[in-house]
Amino acid sequence: MKTLPYFCRGEVVKGFGRGSKELGIPTANFAEKIVDRLPADISTGIYYGWGQVGNGEVHKMVMSIGWNPFYKNTKKSMETHIIHDYMKDFYGEILSIVIAGYIRPEKSFDSLDALISAIYSDIEEAKKRLELPEYQALRDRFFCSTSDKIMNGH
Ligand SMILES: Cc1cc2nc3c(=O)[nH]c(=O)nc-3n(C[C@H](O)[C@H](O)[C@H](O)COP(=O)(O)O)c2cc1C
Repeated sequence: MKTLPYFCRGEVVKGFGRGSKELGIPTANFAEKIVDRLPADISTGIYYGWGQVGNGEVHKMVMSIGWNPFYKNTKKSMETHIIHDYMKDFYGEILSIVIAGYIRPEKSFDSLDALISAIYSDIEEAKKRLELPEYQALRDRFFCSTSDKIMNGH
């Protein structure tokens, strides 16, 4: 994918609320205008990268882009799970992410448990890949102290 790494920043809006309740894996959803702006060559699927809420710490993240075939959503979404234990949700806050790489396509599963274990393996995969020096450098490049100057794009 030519457009990776891809940076974007936007407000966190409410999804269906299943991430926290059903899956135990909270996700932050971007507003429609951010989803619509994704370059065409960023296909649907599961990605990894770095994420930051407001001016907080930068953490590893995994992201699902698409229609969630398990739930048969009708609207495309970009859902980020930040790999960190937050005490609260962050609706209304500004989320900044850099998408660094691709893990797998979105799939439907026979059970909720199968979806949950797939997400846990994505998290492990993301944690491992993001330890590589090239991704550490990427984090520093996008989230240096002047993060206010970064615009959507790549
Ligand atoms: C790393 C990751 C992988 C995911 N993989 C899939 C998938 O393969 N199929 C699918 O239907 N949904 C997948 N999802 C999306 C979840 O189903 C979705 O986050 C959940 O339904 C919560 O959505 P909500 O915030 O709109 O309630 C994935 C989410 C994450 C964070």
